[in-house]
Amino acid sequence: MSSPYTSLQAFNTLDLAISAQTLIVADNSDAISLAWKNSQHSNLPFIVLGEGSNVLFLEDFSGTVVINAIKGIAIEEQDEAWHLHVGAGENWHSLVEQTLKKGITGLENLALIPGMAGSAPIQNIGAYGVEFKDICHYVEALHLPTQKIIRLYREECQFGYRDSIFKHEMKSDYVIVAVGLRLLKQWQPVLSYGDLVKLNPATACAWDVFNAVCHMRQSKLPDPHITGNVGSFFKNPLISDEQAAALIKEWPTIPYYPQASGDVKLAAGWLIDQCGLKGYRVGGAAVHRQQALVLINENHATPQDIVSLAHQVRNRVGEKFDVWLEPEVRFIGARGERNAVEVIS
Ligand code: FAD
Ligand code: EPU
Repeated sequence: MSSPYTSLQAFNTLDLAISAQTLIVADNSDAISLAWKNSQHSNLPFIVLGEGSNVLFLEDFSGTVVINAIKGIAIEEQDEAWHLHVGAGENWHSLVEQTLKKGITGLENLALIPGMAGSAPIQNIGAYGVEFKDICHYVEALHLPTQKIIRLYREECQFGYRDSIFKHEMKSDYVIVAVGLRLLKQWQPVLSYGDLVKLNPATACAWDVFNAVCHMRQSKLPDPHITGNVGSFFKNPLISDEQAAALIKEWPTIPYYPQASGDVKLAAGWLIDQCGLKGYRVGGAAVHRQQALVLINENHATPQDIVSLAHQVRNRVGEKFDVWLEPEVRFIGARGERNAVEVIS
C-alpha cells in the first residue's frame, strides 16, 4: 500500500493544491544527504525547495521534496566591508531588514523579494538596479554524491540576468547550503530605477531606499500570502539591436534597455499589457491587473489553468511583436524539472 501524499499547498506561493510523496524539512546538510540517499535507494525523484516562490508544480510530485531550513547568520566586520555567512534557509527579506537594523547597508534595493537566501544565487535575484551578484562573495553547495561542500566565489558562479551556474552545470546533484555576502562600508545608494530617481543622492539613507522599494513593490505586486503568484512569470526578453530598432520604429513608446552585450532588453509586462491582456482569465488563473507580467491564482486555479494562460499570453505577444517570451518560473513535473518553454508552446 502506498503512503498518503503530503500537501505542498503551503510550500508553493502560487497556492496550488498539489502534493508530494514525501516532504522533509532539513535544517542541516547531513539531513539533506540522507534524504537524497534514501531517494536514490528507492529510485524516487528528489527536489530541494526554499519557499516555493519561483516554481510551478504541474502535477503531484512522485518523490521527495526537501525544504531547506538551514539557519544561521554570522557577521564579521572588516576594515572595508561586512562579511556575512548566511544559512541557505534564512528568509531573504528578513535578512535585508536585520542587516539594515544593524547599520549594515547594501541589501536595501532587494527588499521584499520572497524566498530564501540559498535560492538567491540560483536565478541571481534582482530588483531596482541591484542583483545578487553585486553583493555576492561566495556560494557554498553540497555535492550530493560525495557529500562534500564546495565553495564557489562570485566569478565562478556565471551570474547573468536571472541566470547562474546553478541553472546549468550545477543544476543537478548540488544543493546550496550557504551564501557569503560582502557589503561595502563605503555606501553609495543605487537610485537609477523607478521612483528611486526621485530620491536625493546627497541625503537619501538606506532606509529611504528600503521604504521606497517596499512602497513600489506593494503598489503593483500581489502579496503571495493573499493572492497566489510567483512574481514575474516570464523573463524580460533579450533581442538583437536590429529587431529592437524595428520595434521602436513601429512602437515609439516601447520601453527598452540596451545591454552591454549589444542586445536590447524589453519589458515583457509592457508587451503583455499592449495585447490588452490585463485581467484576462483562464479558469481560476488570471493576468494581474496592476502588473501584466504577473500571473495570479485568482480562484482555485489548477496547474493546467496556469499553463494554458501562459501559453495564450506567450502566443498573443509572439503574434503581435514576434517576441517569444520564456518563463522565469521553474516548471516541476511528477519526476523533476520540465522544460518550461516546451510545456507552454
Ligand atoms: P524556490 O521557488 O523554492 O526554488 C526555486 C528553484 O531553485 C527550484 O528549482 C528549486 O528546486 C531550486 N532550489 C531552491 N533551493 C535550493 C537550494 N538550496 N539548492 C539548490 N536548488 C534549490 N525574483 C527576482 O529576482 N526579483 C524580484 O523582484 C522578484 N520578485 C518577486 C515577487 C513576488 C511576489 C514573488 C512571489 C516572487 C518574486 N521573485 C523575484 C521570484 C522569487 O522570489 C525568487 O526567484 C527567489 O529567489 C525564489 O526563492 P525560493 O526560496 O522561493 O525558491
Ligand atoms: N509595464 C507596463 N505594463 C505592465 C507592467 C509593466 O507598461 O503591466 C511597463 C512599466 O511601465 C515599465 C516597464 O514595463 O516601463 C517595466 O516594468 P517594471 O518596472 O514593473 O519592471 P518589470 O520589468 O516588469 C522587473 C523584474 C522584477 C523586478 C522589477 C524591478 C524581470 C522578469 N522582472 O520587472 O522582478 O522586481 O523589474 O526591478 O526581470 C521577478 O523576477 O519575479 C520580479 C518581480
